[in-house]
Amino acid sequence: IPVESFDYVVFGGNGDLAERKLLPALYHRDKDNQLPGDARIIGASRTALSDEEYRAFARQAIETFVPEEQRDAKSLARFLERLFYLKVDARSDGGWAELKAMLDAAPQDRIRAFYLAVGPGLFGDLASRIREHGLVGPRTRLVIEKPVGRDLASARELNNNIGKHFEEQQVFRIDHYLGKETVQNLMALRFANMLYEPLWNSAYVDHVQITVAESVGLEGRGGYYDKAGALRDMVQNHIVQLMCLVALEPPSAIDGDSLRDEKLKVLRALKPINESNVEHVTVRGQYRAGASNGGPAKGYLDDLGESTSDTETFVAIKAEINNWRWAGVPFYLRTGKRLTQRMSEIVVTFRSIPHSIFTNAGHIQQNQLVLRLQPDEGVKQWLMIKDPGPGGMRLRHVPLDMSFAQSFPTRNPDAYERLLMDVIRGNQTLFMRRDEVEAAWEWVGPILTAWEEKNIRPQGYTSGTWGPSSSIALIERDGRTWHEPE
Ligand code: BG6
Repeated sequence: IPVESFDYVVFGGNGDLAERKLLPALYHRDKDNQLPGDARIIGASRTALSDEEYRAFARQAIETFVPEEQRDAKSLARFLERLFYLKVDARSDGGWAELKAMLDAAPQDRIRAFYLAVGPGLFGDLASRIREHGLVGPRTRLVIEKPVGRDLASARELNNNIGKHFEEQQVFRIDHYLGKETVQNLMALRFANMLYEPLWNSAYVDHVQITVAESVGLEGRGGYYDKAGALRDMVQNHIVQLMCLVALEPPSAIDGDSLRDEKLKVLRALKPINESNVEHVTVRGQYRAGASNGGPAKGYLDDLGESTSDTETFVAIKAEINNWRWAGVPFYLRTGKRLTQRMSEIVVTFRSIPHSIFTNAGHIQQNQLVLRLQPDEGVKQWLMIKDPGPGGMRLRHVPLDMSFAQSFPTRNPDAYERLLMDVIRGNQTLFMRRDEVEAAWEWVGPILTAWEEKNIRPQGYTSGTWGPSSSIALIERDGRTWHEPE
């Protein structure tokens, strides 16, 4: 179904995010006939480019980031015609009048989205200039990318700056993990089935694991990453969001505030991690030289080109949620770069059966629900069954297996496709509300402080492994193990 017509203004329109994600995503939506004929995409940045040069940039982006079998010359030509470009300066008045004239040429009730695909240092400037130059129409939205701050104070300041010029209902804070298909499937699984919800609590769940493993290293983003580190880059947003979706109480509706109210309650119930427990419940790591993706890989410092750095590229955390539903159920979280393979999954392990009637039938393993986010998206419910054959009662752990690729041969859309269109639809459900972002920092900030106070520096791990051995110890101390990907 086509969305209403719109103008998408992408600040940082010729940057890395626009090239790798935004333009390819908008192209796919156009190719699937979701964009009305007169919808426009306006790239803006301080670089001078003509419309034609911008279209050439977009063509190259799509030819690089959209696989050949998913594009064709006709739809690409149609898409490129929607693109325009203006040189607009975030820090001066240069270009703003031209942008206003361009937007005003369209009907006034058209949806206007401003996507700030730029560093967070420019968010405040851009928000105020958009307002001051009279670009905010009746149906305007502002989209911002992470990082929303680097601690609670800076997140508040940033949110305040934006809040001076935009209502919260106009602000869309992207966490692209929320747009991933399997993440949304978690909602479907929990709330469109009778099966799981009665068991989704400490009486039946033993523990939860969330792993977001990457095989890549710095990918040329050292300037940003070395100041952030894995806790800020991945845990404060993506992993915390996944944890909230696993743990939240059933919202009464799937509108923006109902879901986000419930996520906020989870964030507020997280057991604090601070100097008193940080050594026992967190692990920090930094990759050393090793192997990755079938070849040798350099260590973090070499990738960065520095002789020292205390930035972590791996984090493991044992988190706990202090509420009635989850008391005593650990959530083991881990993420890292240069790990054995790219693999993200959520694993819910159910408790052991209370009594076994089977003797000599083999070990009865705990039921596990595995949601594979990427790659090979799918859901597996591991169960014990009888091994077929006449050999007596032998039990085996086997999965009920739902692979998306097999069940749904259609292309799996990228998270940005969904999220970019939700902005136009005005649906904030999959975006982070201001209080949520701040509550996430309230939990994450003290971890950073405690690392510093206790002088906890990252431990080295060999590229191509699953991180420092203390991450394995973190979970094994509790008599559990990290789920081995198949
Ligand atoms: C980004 C992080 O938000 O997510 C990157 O800044 C990370 O460091 C990326 O590589 C991972 O996203 P995805 O969709 O590839 O899992």
